[in-house]
Amino acid sequence: MQRLGPDRAVKNEWLWKGMELLGIDVFNIGGNDVGELQALGLALRKNGRFISANLLSAQSGDPLLDPYLIKTMSASASAPAFRVGFIGFASGNHSSKSEAEYRWENPSDSAGKWLPELREKCDYVIALACMPLGDAIQLAIDHKGIDMILNGFEHQSAMPPIKVSRSTIVYAEDEAKSLGELRFSLKLGRPAVQPLNHRLSRRVADDADMAAFMVKAKADISARQTEMALQTAQAHGHEHDHAHGHSHGSHQDHADSDFVTSQTCGTCHADAFQVWEGSAHAHAIDILIRERKEFDTQCVICHVTGSGQPGGFEDLYRTAHLANVQCEACHGQGREHSQQPTVVKMEPLGPNSCVTCHNPSNSPEFEFVSYWEAIKH
Ligand code: HEC
Ligand code: HEC
Ligand code: HEC
Ligand code: HEC
Repeated sequence: MQRLGPDRAVKNEWLWKGMELLGIDVFNIGGNDVGELQALGLALRKNGRFISANLLSAQSGDPLLDPYLIKTMSASASAPAFRVGFIGFASGNHSSKSEAEYRWENPSDSAGKWLPELREKCDYVIALACMPLGDAIQLAIDHKGIDMILNGFEHQSAMPPIKVSRSTIVYAEDEAKSLGELRFSLKLGRPAVQPLNHRLSRRVADDADMAAFMVKAKADISARQTEMALQTAQAHGHEHDHAHGHSHGSHQDHADSDFVTSQTCGTCHADAFQVWEGSAHAHAIDILIRERKEFDTQCVICHVTGSGQPGGFEDLYRTAHLANVQCEACHGQGREHSQQPTVVKMEPLGPNSCVTCHNPSNSPEFEFVSYWEAIKH
């Protein structure tokens, strides 16, 4: 389902500005970051902030960035400095271009090279990791020198800390849904660490500066996404703006597509149509329009019909008739069935047809029985 459009670059620009504003000291570079940072014009070289122990120069075989950085902190002016070492790892070879100027080494091999000297120089070692949980667990088993693994990988849910060998592995959910905190205390010179995960619900007040920044960011991102979609539509010969207002699909026949819209299904399945029309699915794009996210390719995929499929939803300028979660978002393309319903059967569906969209991060309360009850037809 993950389909990132060119508007991704616009978001990255603001994401980067936001991280600068927050004053982040150490960044571990993940597999997908390489191309995205380069697209932002940020050079991948040692800069005192970017780290990776296993992103290597293809020519020299040396790390492209600092494999680790050490930060010192102390509870008071008189207290001895406490040294925290950050070492970075990412899994996967996301760019297999043969002429690429870099390559990814196996994280465990890189850890073997750098951990011993880092251990010598600091009191506590944190590995910033970008890898599936299984790989993080393996890293902890292979190397005893890591106190904490802070993992972040695609859309994983927040999880309570787990202890593997000598390491504690923690994961704070992405998309700023929660804030991780490591609370250090020194007892007789030995660090004790409490990992905390704060859910950033609506009850947590926004930081005023950050909130103002977000208002500016959202307005600019939305305006530029809209502009990009309009340009693409014009390049495809769609001049007129029919982005807003069509919520049930138009009556025009879009013969180049095997999606026929709910209107067409409804000509024979009047009862199912009526149930659907009264459901949230029939209006799923409205909530994005209200939030000015209707041209955000990261959001629309689940709020429309046939995203990523041939003949499916592209954007509101070109395919407004496929906005919203229509019959064919669940049942699949229905042109042939609509023409010969007794000959061409629709595929039977089950609970799995829901969870591509109702995943834990976008629909945390989803459970098939009660959800189906609400839209049964
Ligand atoms: C993986 C599919 C998926 C993606 C991607 C997705 N949504 Fe949704 N969204 C859903 C589903 C499913 C629901 C219904 C959740 C429920 O009621 O259980 C929903 C509900 C919503 C709601 C109403 C409920 C609420 O939480 O207030 C809003 C607003 C929303 N989505 C906005 C967005 C935005 C903005 C994005 C992009 C950042 C986005 N969605 C991306 C699937 C998705
Ligand atoms: C959110 C997903 C979803 C949407 C949207 C949806 N359906 Fe369904 N539909 C299902 C599921 C699940 C079933 C029950 C399982 C099955 O029989 O395939 C079902 C059952 C049906 C059946 C009965 C099948 C049978 O064997 O008795 C018909 C007919 C039908 N849908 C037509 C429609 C039409 C027409 C629309 C649009 C107006 C629509 N559906 C929208 C998911 C959906
Ligand atoms: C021209 C009328 C007509 C149209 C248009 C039509 N259907 Fe049907 N549909 C039928 C008939 C008739 C049956 C029962 C077929 C049978 O029992 O052999 C049926 C059966 C179904 C079934 C049950 C499984 C099956 O294939 O027997 C589903 C699900 C379904 N339709 C969904 C849809 C969806 C979704 C659309 C729109 C994409 C749609 N239908 C469009 C007439 C139509
Ligand atoms: C193509 C993506 C998609 C699929 C597939 C899908 N949904 Fe949804 N569903 C959504 C979105 C998006 C919303 C939120 C719409 C809104 O609130 O505007 C939603 C909302 C709902 C709601 C309303 C929730 C509420 O709190 O009002 C129910 C119920 C629901 N879906 C049931 C189902 C069931 C059952 C299935 C599987 C048979 C299913 N959905 C399949 C995208 C999907």
